[in-house]
Amino acid sequence: MKPSYKILITSLLVVFTMLFSGFGKYNSVYSPSKRKSGMIKQKVDSLLALMTLDEKIGQMTQVDILALKDPNDIAKYSIGSVLCGGNSEIADESAKGWADYYDMLQSYALKSRLRIPIIYGVDAVHGHNNVKGAVIFPHNIGMGCTRNTGLVKEEGRITAEEIAGTGMNWDFAPCVAVARDIRWGRTYESYGETPGLVSGMGAAFIEGLQGNELNSEASILACAKHFVGDGGTTNGKDQGNTECDEATLRKIHLPGYVAAIKAGARTIMVSYSSWNGVKMHGNKYLLTDVLKDELGFSGFLVSDWAAIDQLGGNYETDIEKSINAGLDMIMIPNGPGQNNNYIQFINDLKELVKEGGVAESRIDDAVRRILTVKMEMNVFEHPFTDRKYTSQVGSKEHREAARECVRQSLVLLKNEDKTLPLSKDIKTLAVIGEKADDLGSQCGGWTISWQGQTGDITPGGTTILQGIKQAVSASTKIIFSKDGSGVDNADAAVVVVGEKPYAEMMGDRDNLALSEEDNALVEKIKGKGIPVVVILISGRPMIINKALKNSNAFVAAWLPGTEGEGVADVLFGDYKPAGKLSHSWPRDMKQVPINYGDKNYDPLFPYGYGLTY
Ligand code: BGC
Ligand code: BGC
Repeated sequence: MKPSYKILITSLLVVFTMLFSGFGKYNSVYSPSKRKSGMIKQKVDSLLALMTLDEKIGQMTQVDILALKDPNDIAKYSIGSVLCGGNSEIADESAKGWADYYDMLQSYALKSRLRIPIIYGVDAVHGHNNVKGAVIFPHNIGMGCTRNTGLVKEEGRITAEEIAGTGMNWDFAPCVAVARDIRWGRTYESYGETPGLVSGMGAAFIEGLQGNELNSEASILACAKHFVGDGGTTNGKDQGNTECDEATLRKIHLPGYVAAIKAGARTIMVSYSSWNGVKMHGNKYLLTDVLKDELGFSGFLVSDWAAIDQLGGNYETDIEKSINAGLDMIMIPNGPGQNNNYIQFINDLKELVKEGGVAESRIDDAVRRILTVKMEMNVFEHPFTDRKYTSQVGSKEHREAARECVRQSLVLLKNEDKTLPLSKDIKTLAVIGEKADDLGSQCGGWTISWQGQTGDITPGGTTILQGIKQAVSASTKIIFSKDGSGVDNADAAVVVVGEKPYAEMMGDRDNLALSEEDNALVEKIKGKGIPVVVILISGRPMIINKALKNSNAFVAAWLPGTEGEGVADVLFGDYKPAGKLSHSWPRDMKQVPINYGDKNYDPLFPYGYGLTY
């Protein structure tokens, strides 16, 4: 190139850079984000132009790691995404183990012809809960009781850093379900029964998780779920049917998505449930006309786990229906040799395009959305784990933040004669019930395993009993008794009762009464004539009348997670109870479903209730 041309081009470049970097008075016109999105659009267009139909369909395919028998398939089929479901384990489930595994899978994606990186999705719904040693936050029902969006944002930020430490970059959270019937086993994944509460909390989580921009360090892609009406099913049946008119659907179940989109959510997961008998995965009106066109959602829609298989046709017609309804990526838990596996999905969708069942323009639209989000995330430039976050998983600082969430999530329902706070100098304190010393129970479902389980499920953290032991003075004697025996000399008792861990599909209950054993335990201690403090561990309000009567103080602790010290902080008065109910508390099962704003509203404790000292 001649020197004069060089100078001309250089000066042109300088002028352009000044203009487009928002220099001087052009600042407001050429905002950096507009410029960036313009650049991304160009890059996506040029990449799309290079892609074969096979490669495009590959990008629309998300495979569970257990289904993926051969990682070479990622390169071979240009797979767009992988996930690990609640039970999809690997040999080493430490943060480092997951990070090594992620990097290994990513290296295969980068061997594909166009070297398009995968994005890796995970259900980090209360901290990075599949990872051993990660900090576990209270489930959303408790976070809703904090009424503190700042805290939820902080939870999102910490969860993002822990996810980043394992390489993964996409979180199937927040769940913005508005749970309207506490018989539903996923009630605890919902922030509460009102759209306002859910919208505020969901948006705050997204802001924390994604950070300022999707491409900033340790920014994790959010996924609002499950669109739409998952919390409104008749009788609270999981994956059931939400029966209501459109105005009600829009008023109660849609606002969480409006808020999520505004907060920057770039992916939304579609619900297993139906609306007036029509499965959401086939509902073009709600997915495309309302969500994408009317609300302007320009990110992409991912299916739920094998959810298109429920559309009622054969696999090919199910694919046709869901992609035409507006689904952009399909989550597939089945591998070669199984029905409806990912290779079959790819072949069937290709066939559908060739036959004209799915227009190529629909494929292009889906892939454009997926690639746009990938570019916004900057995963092309940073495909591998940022190891500086790996050692931060489960750090003291993260645990301290979760402990604060626990403190603020507890709801004090009763406090007769100032039973609480307890004195740290109490001579003998009985701590009763097996759940008092059980990390698994206080974490609930979606912790290490899909349904959760009792016992020492993860390293780190403190049980409620351990928290109490750390809080009291050196002279206090703690007697721990699972069945309430041997505590006759105690000056007061803390009795921990409630539900066993469960998650979706297994958690629906028609009867939410506290078990006979729990009622008997509280009654037995009451008979000893000492002050009785009941702590309820549960994923929803329960029918507690008898135990409530037999207690002097009663605390709803929900599913507080690994930081049991937060419970002790409130019991001994270092922190005052501040939680307000995110759900109306029924007197009996006949009152269920009961929600704030109902006619003849007469709950045991209303929505928003919560005492303090
Ligand atoms: C659940 C989703 C979850 C997905 C992946 C589904 O069964 O409904 O909430 O994100 O599995 O684990
Ligand atoms: C997976 C979950 C999934 C569920 C639904 C489980 O085996 O681990 O992630 O949501 O199946 O069928």
